[in-house]
Amino acid sequence: MAQLLDGKKLAASMQAEMQSEVAKIKEKDGIVPGLVVILVGEDPASQIYVRNKEVAAGKMGIRSKVDRRPDTITEADLLALIETYNQDEQFHGILVQLPLPAHIDEEKVILAIDPKKDVDGFHPLNIGRLFAGDPVMIPCTPYGIMKLLAAYNISVAGKNAVVIGRSNIVGKPMAHLLLQENATVTIAHSKTQNLPAIAKKADILVAAVGVGHLVDKNYVKEGAVVIDVGMNRDANNKLIGDVDFAAVEPIADFITPVPGGVGPMTITMLLYQTIKAYHLQKSGV
Ligand code: GUN
Repeated sequence: MAQLLDGKKLAASMQAEMQSEVAKIKEKDGIVPGLVVILVGEDPASQIYVRNKEVAAGKMGIRSKVDRRPDTITEADLLALIETYNQDEQFHGILVQLPLPAHIDEEKVILAIDPKKDVDGFHPLNIGRLFAGDPVMIPCTPYGIMKLLAAYNISVAGKNAVVIGRSNIVGKPMAHLLLQENATVTIAHSKTQNLPAIAKKADILVAAVGVGHLVDKNYVKEGAVVIDVGMNRDANNKLIGDVDFAAVEPIADFITPVPGGVGPMTITMLLYQTIKAYHLQKSGV
């Protein structure tokens, strides 16, 4: 039977530490770290994610603002709005919630964010730093996964890690963070042949594909560490991961539940990086 990698519990303890750090900053510097989230349109999932970010920021004493704009906003107006927040010293982090409406070029939007305020770690400068082995702002989901592995003393060096999924938000940065810790990394994806056989070689398996219950016992080696990034809905609208938990849990050594595994870490790392951005901007780096 596998041990649960309890993201909810780790997130709560990190958040408690961050709360006292924010209080200390406030006492010492007379200001608090600030995060602005720009939400364009009415996407229901985005509304929920943004609300959760706002609540968590509030709990930690981080100043947060959600700037809601209609989905008719022009690309030029959105870029100009980002520039005002680049200049606004009250906000140390800027997050533009994705996806954006089709008439807006996501790449241009990400490029417009000051890399020092890019708490998502999506700006090419931050991606480049990560890939060069000198990360500063790191995409929150893979960063949270590395914190989970460390909290459970799971060593990465020399291990076979297989990441299923090659998105810019999760798969690619995840692979680089594992590489940074000296894992031997394979990135698998939708065109990969013999996926179960490749996944079964993993000591650390990260599933970030967005296909509910794809990873069953044919994908998992006895004693593996299984990380489930999936957030899918089944036919009854129940939240399910990319991993068939019931099938895999008996053979894995460690496994993340869905919900309560990776999800709570993502939001925690966003606020962690807001505090990091505050310190970086204060020291003028
Ligand atoms: N939409 C879904 N996940 C994310 C995320 O991590 N960052 C942003 N900006 N948008 C998202």
